[in-house]
Amino acid sequence: MQKYKFVSADEAASYIHHGDVVGFSGFTPAGAPKAVPAAIAKRAEALHAEGKEFKIGMYTGASTGGSLDGALARANAVWFRTPYQSNKDMRAALNDGRISYFDMHLSTLAQELRAGFLPKPKFAILEVCDITDDGELVLTTGAGISPTIARLADHIILELNHAHPKGLRGFHDLYEPLDPPYRREIPVYKPSDRIGATTLKVDPAKILCVVETDVPDETGGFSPLDAVTEQIGANVAHFLAEELKAGRIPKEFLPIQSGVGNIANAVLGSLGENPDIPPFEMFTEVIQDAVIGLMRHGRVKFASGCSLTVSHEVLEQVYADLDFFRDKVVLRPQEISNNPELVRRMGLITINTALEADIFGNVNSTHVLGQKMMNGLGGSGDFTRNAYISIFTTPSTAKGGAISSIVPMVSHVDHSEHSVKVIVTEHGIADLRGKSPIQRAHLIIENCVAPEYKDVLREYLTLTNGVHTPQDLKNCFAMHRQFKETGSMMGVKWEK
Ligand code: COA
Repeated sequence: MQKYKFVSADEAASYIHHGDVVGFSGFTPAGAPKAVPAAIAKRAEALHAEGKEFKIGMYTGASTGGSLDGALARANAVWFRTPYQSNKDMRAALNDGRISYFDMHLSTLAQELRAGFLPKPKFAILEVCDITDDGELVLTTGAGISPTIARLADHIILELNHAHPKGLRGFHDLYEPLDPPYRREIPVYKPSDRIGATTLKVDPAKILCVVETDVPDETGGFSPLDAVTEQIGANVAHFLAEELKAGRIPKEFLPIQSGVGNIANAVLGSLGENPDIPPFEMFTEVIQDAVIGLMRHGRVKFASGCSLTVSHEVLEQVYADLDFFRDKVVLRPQEISNNPELVRRMGLITINTALEADIFGNVNSTHVLGQKMMNGLGGSGDFTRNAYISIFTTPSTAKGGAISSIVPMVSHVDHSEHSVKVIVTEHGIADLRGKSPIQRAHLIIENCVAPEYKDVLREYLTLTNGVHTPQDLKNCFAMHRQFKETGSMMGVKWEK
């Protein structure tokens, strides 16, 4: 290890220049570098104070933590960014046009980088917990796009973070498929199959420098369950238990993918507690707190993911018992954890969260009122489009009831009616399989819409007759328009 150049974060940041394109390790704040990005932000501020330009283009696995996305956005140090983000300063900057942001399916980023669709990263900045003299790296809690950016970049800067134990060696399964036309099938047939390497091998000559740190992942905790999320979770579990009973899910059950955030974490908790659901495996993107708890109780048998995005408390528990978890958890690059071929082959039951859905089954997961980017599509498209059964959950209202999450027409489409099979709110379940648009609309209104919005949506369906999909082009965004004008969708009147 002595052969590498150990430097301060500031010195590492001094190698990055205006216009450089940088790829960062990690996936969510798990495994994202922390010290060097914060130092790059500081360097940007100093250069801006001298009247000089400094902005970088950046790729990440997904969202990151405050000292990466937050610091760089606050320092106005980002020229373009993709894919998913969820930091409030980054969100503000890309919504007010300071950052050129484009949203992508997470599984496609590595291939698009290799293909040259996007500018090649000059630097890869990777968090690791161990390095050998011959360039063998042990990644930490997120695999993200690290194998690809490490290979494509001219230079690699490492953050050797002692807050992660070296015992993470063995948790990763790093595999990069060949590109078309040479691609073969990806030989994962069940969530626990391993097909790649546990460490990332890079050319040691590309390792520009190493920065030692001792900083925990910047992951937040989860909110305690409220009545609404608890009921959504119970409804999803009930739906799946009935599918199992009806023989539409095989008795061995199928792997579960569960999205990000509080609702997803709560849904998983309910699934785990439901005695009618057998112990199951996860083939998912983000392994959250609930999965770890369920593993301890034997309810989750195995979890394949791209990151271990758990609260500090839960990560400490995992680190204290690495031997228990080593044969139950695998961390894969997002190109594999979210791979459509694998999702379709293994028959995943996918559960993701909508910001809004429309009465015909289209889902918006990303754009508030069709205009402001929330976080991004993440892996929801990778999973939903290829699922055995795709489920979307959402509380029936937002902002204390001023917004109905079910509207006549979504203000932005991430998942079309063809991919969305089931919608679940705290009020119930709409099983959309095999239903026409009008049948779907009746089901969603009767089973999922909040009581205070039911009548107005029933009336909407009477506005247009004699068509396949009774959208009313004059009124389809009336609820959104009224919210913008008055701060509430309540009492909307249809223009006749
Ligand atoms: N219109 C406007 N705002 C809405 C809304 C709507 N229809 N529905 C919810 N919101 C607001 C909420 O009020 C809340 O605002 P606040 O932060 O000011 O309180 C915010 O959106 C987030 O809502 P919340 O209910 O806390 O959602 P969440 O934490 O469960 O996240 C998504 C929901 C959709 C934002 C999140 O799941 C996401 O980013 N999904 C896309 C990516 C994805 O699915 N990844 C997983 C694939 S593996």
